[in-house]
Order: sequence, then structure tokens, then C-alpha cells
Amino acid sequence: MSPFQLTRILPEDATGAALRADVRTGLTGTPKTLPPKWFYDAHGSALFEKITELHEYYPTRAEREILHARADRIAAASGARTLVELGSGSSEKTGRLLDALPGLDSYVPVDVSASALEDAGRALAVERPGLTVHALIADFTRGLTLPPTPGPRLVAFLGGTVGNLLPTERASFLRSVRHLLEPGDMLLLGTDLVKAESELVAAYDDAAGVTAEFNKNVLAVINRELRADFDPQGFTHIARWNPDREWIEMRLRAQRAHTVHIQELGLDVEFAAGEEVRTEVSAKFREERVRVELSAAGFRPAHWWTDERGRFALSLSGV
Ligand code: SAH
Ligand code: AVI
Repeated sequence: MSPFQLTRILPEDATGAALRADVRTGLTGTPKTLPPKWFYDAHGSALFEKITELHEYYPTRAEREILHARADRIAAASGARTLVELGSGSSEKTGRLLDALPGLDSYVPVDVSASALEDAGRALAVERPGLTVHALIADFTRGLTLPPTPGPRLVAFLGGTVGNLLPTERASFLRSVRHLLEPGDMLLLGTDLVKAESELVAAYDDAAGVTAEFNKNVLAVINRELRADFDPQGFTHIARWNPDREWIEMRLRAQRAHTVHIQELGLDVEFAAGEEVRTEVSAKFREERVRVELSAAGFRPAHWWTDERGRFALSLSGV
């Protein structure tokens, strides 16, 4: 078994403090919003894994297809000795990259979900003797620092999670990743692409209702962590395409007028009948926009690969 180390960069209470601040700001603003990172407690992470297996949810399969076809090119271009993966979740797709990188010394998965990191990190440490797994419980939008592992580094940000950041958050996030990198390091970025509205909406509103349960899980997280009394069944899951912003919005719509009490915040939140809380945006990209945003952050886009059906893209950039 190879070395496995799990480091919490965020102190226990920083997570609580950030949740309290996000919930207070988001639910007292107009319109009401909640950031998507709070979906991912152990149950939310498991629900996301179920989403990746739904026939309507194509991004995981499309990205896996690209990784399988291009992992050797990615490995040859990067020559990475450390693979850093942001929002690594189950690290399931990462296996193909780990196989392809011959001189890899360290794998650094970074996630807010401690449960996902523990499960994935321990399995990898057993499966891949010789690889040092240094997992970080951290929020990648908040001043990330990396352990002193050998370079060159390849930073992978897969799944299209970059699309869950709002445009201004995305710009500062990309700049902060750029500042972590040194000459010779590279960024591998997964982006979901603009496509027919019907295909997009189906991916975020599946027939089995798994995405609805995932969406409502944020209310269960707030109930547990902040002693609130949300009734998740009193909200309807909405997935809507916004053609101007080119993103899917997930929302929760209150079925009736009611008040929710959040004990930890000493806060009462009133909902009108039909009022919606935006819980996630999932931006869909075109090649030009990805190139412009990467360049603006100081990257040099070098490769652009899509799956055969052109649904999803992986780009590889230098610095
Ligand atoms: N990369 C995997 C998982 C994507 S799900 C895949 O492609 O299938 C998104 C992951 O990002 C989740 O595991 C979630 O816990 C993590 N995440 C979301 N926001 C985060 C943040 N701000 N900081 C760190 N991890 C985050
Ligand atoms: C993690 N992220 C890229 C997913 C997405 O597609 O935006 C989260 C998700 N939300 C609903 N289904 C999946």
C-alpha cells in the first residue's frame, strides 16, 4: 500500500462559518440563491455518483471517452510528476490519466467533500503502490496552496465543474490557479458544450428524479448543519436553460407560502408561493469562450479535444 495522507486545509469551523455566511447572504437577498458547493455532503456526493450513471446525463461518459482517447497525448505533453485534481469527487475518471502518466510521483485530489476524498484516496493508495496520495479537504475558490510535491504538475479540473462558477468567480478562480503554476506545469480543463435545449434540460431533470433529490439535498444540509426546518418535499426541482447566459439553472420552487426558521442564524426566511431559490448554474461553453477566458487568466491554450458527438471538450493549456 502506498502513502495516503488526508489534510484539512479548512479548519473544521471555517466550513461552518462559510456555510452560515453563504446561507445568510443567499437567502436574505433578492432573488434568493445558494452556492452549489453545499450539495456535497456524503449523501450529496453519493447522489452525484448516481447522476453520472443516468442515461440522460451525458457529460461523464463524453469526458471519459475523450480521456480514453487522449490520455497518452496528455501524458506526453505534460510529463507530469504530480497530478493535482480539483473537485476530484470519486476520482473515477482519473484512473485513465494515472495509468498514462509513467513518471507520476504524487496525486493530490482536492475537494470540499471529506467522504469522497477518503473513499477515493484510500482505494487509490491500495490500488497504486508507489503513488503518494496527498488528499486535501479544501475549497478551491479560497486561496488554495499545494503541498511541495515534485514538478512538473498537471492540474486537472474535470467534469465541467468550472461551469458551476459564476463568470466573475470563474475569472478569479482561473487566475488563482494560474498563480499556483510554474513554467512547465499545465492545466487540463473539462468544459461542457452548448447543445440542444432538450438534451440539456433532460440531463438536469432526469426521469428517475435523482437530480431533483440532489438539488433538494442542499436543504437537508442546511437543516442538519444550521438547525433549520426546511421541508424539502415542499419544494419543486426546476432545471431551466438560460439562452442569454448559455447556462442551465437549477432552482427550488416553494410550492406554498411559508416561513423557514434557521436556528443557528436566528433567522426567519419567508417564501412566497412559487418563489424560487437558484441553487446552481451549469455553464455550457463554446471553444472561443474557453480560449478567451483561459488566455485572460494567463494560460496558453495548446489543445482542444471533444468526444465524437461534440458534446464535451477537454482543453490542455500551458503557462
Ligand atoms: N470531478 C468529478 C466530480 C465532479 S462533482 C467528476 O468529473 O465526476 C463536483 C465535485 O467538486 C464534488 O466532488 C464537489 O464536492 C467538489 N466541489 C464543488 N465545489 C467545490 C469547491 N468550491 N472546492 C472544492 N471542491 C468543490
Ligand atoms: C459537478 N457539476 C459539473 C455538475 C453539473 O453538471 O453541473 C453538477 C450537477 N448538477 C446537476 N447535475 C449534475
